[in-house]
Amino acid sequence: FHIFSSVYFSSAVNRKQYVNDGRKEIAFIGRSNVGKSSLINNLCGQRKLAYVSREPGKTRTINYYAIQSRRTVDEQEQRQEWYLVDLPGYGFAKTSQENKDTWSTFIDDYIKSSPSLVMVGLLIDLRHPGLPIDMKAYEWLREIAPSLVVIGTKEDKLKRNEARENLKKLNKLFPADYPAISYSSLNGDGRDSLYRLIEQKVCE
Ligand code: GTP
Ligand code: MG
Repeated sequence: FHIFSSVYFSSAVNRKQYVNDGRKEIAFIGRSNVGKSSLINNLCGQRKLAYVSREPGKTRTINYYAIQSRRTVDEQEQRQEWYLVDLPGYGFAKTSQENKDTWSTFIDDYIKSSPSLVMVGLLIDLRHPGLPIDMKAYEWLREIAPSLVVIGTKEDKLKRNEARENLKKLNKLFPADYPAISYSSLNGDGRDSLYRLIEQKVCE
């Protein structure tokens, strides 16, 4: 399974702008600065597809990236066209309560109005498993996401055994439809596991 093409497609700030053309969608969500845009770039093997910044709160819109992938089954090449969706982060320190409510209504509406959404990846900083804000997001997503996978990000910032321990904690605190994956957008750790899962969702 290989992603051979990825291009920015469109952005949405309201329901009228959701894509809904029948192609499947896989969306990433998580705290601001957790590494959603970096993960999308790493998955696609591109450096500047999704905008990455040290400043939290950079991604403010729902961003669709059109993806083309291929795999070979019984010597037959199959191609898939689908979308990766980068969602704005939550928990941005400067956002007021009013903005928080707008944010959750916005994302709630996106998830509920996207029949082709097949999976949501909830990104959690592997250094900080179990933050209250992530627990809240998890409990809410568990109810509305079509299927859920938890991804522990920035694995490269931890020692190997700490990373292993924290991955266990993620699985315990955030049981989802698949085992949690630890990921590094810096060195690509976890990418193959995520590829396998995406292949399953996109090709099923
Ligand atoms: P918002 O769009 O603001 O919600 O943030 P985001 O979740 O898209 O995070 P983004 O990908 O922009 O990354 C935030 C910061 O974390 C950047 O400085 C990245 O370089 C850094 N970062 C992201 N992923 C990793 C990783 O796997 N390892 C390391 N060391 N740094 C990372
Ligand atoms: Mg971003």
